[in-house]
Amino acid sequence: MKAVVIYNSKTGFTKQYAQWISAEVKCDCVSLEGVERISLKDYDTVVFGSWFHAGRIQKLSWLFEQLKKDMSKNYIVFAVGASPSDYPEVKTAMERNIPKNSVIKSFYLPGGLNYDKLGITARIMLKIYSTMLKRSKDSTPEQIKAGEMMSKSYDISDRKYIIPIVRCIFSFNSDNRA
Ligand SMILES: Cc1cc2nc3c(=O)[nH]c(=O)nc-3n(C[C@H](O)[C@H](O)[C@H](O)COP(=O)(O)O)c2cc1C
Repeated sequence: MKAVVIYNSKTGFTKQYAQWISAEVKCDCVSLEGVERISLKDYDTVVFGSWFHAGRIQKLSWLFEQLKKDMSKNYIVFAVGASPSDYPEVKTAMERNIPKNSVIKSFYLPGGLNYDKLGITARIMLKIYSTMLKRSKDSTPEQIKAGEMMSKSYDISDRKYIIPIVRCIFSFNSDNRA
C-alpha cells in the first residue's frame, strides 16, 4: 500500500492535519498547488484534505476528477471547519458535499479560525455571519455561542482527531494484503 496526502489550506489548519496524518502513516504529503510534481499512478490510496468555505469543501472537484479518471484507488477526504465535530450541522454539511453512498470515505476535523491569515473580504464575511448568529431572534443558545466563538481567532484542532483516518488508511493496507 502506498498512500499520499494532498492538502488545500488557506490558514494552516488543514496543512497541519495533513502533516500529522503523513507523519503517522509515514507517507508522502504535498499541497494541491504542487500536485503536478508527483505522479498519482505511484499511489493506491489518495487522501485529500481541504477546508470548508460557506458550506462547501474547497477544491473538492479536483478529487472527483481523479475518481472519474481512476476508480481503482482508495479515496479519503478530510474536511476542516470552524465547528466542533459534534455540531449537528457538521454531518449535514459533510453529506451535502459527499453523498453517503459515495466510494469516498469522508471525515470531518475541527480546525479553528485564524483572522490574521485571512484577507479583508473573508474577515468581513465571518464578522457578518457571527453577528447574525449572535443577534438573530431565531438563534438557539448553541448558535449564539458559536457566533461569539467566531468573532475572534481560535484553535480547536488536535492530533487525536486523525486516529479514525489513520485507521482507515491502514485498513486499506490490510485489505490489499489479504
Ligand atoms: C469566508 C469563510 C467561510 C467559512 N465557512 C465555513 C463553513 O461553512 N463551515 C465551517 O465549518 N467553517 C467555515 N469556515 C472556517 C474554515 O473552514 C476554518 O477556518 C478552517 O480551519 C480553515 O482551514 P485552513 O486553515 O486549512 O485554511 C469559513 C472560513 C471563512 C474564512
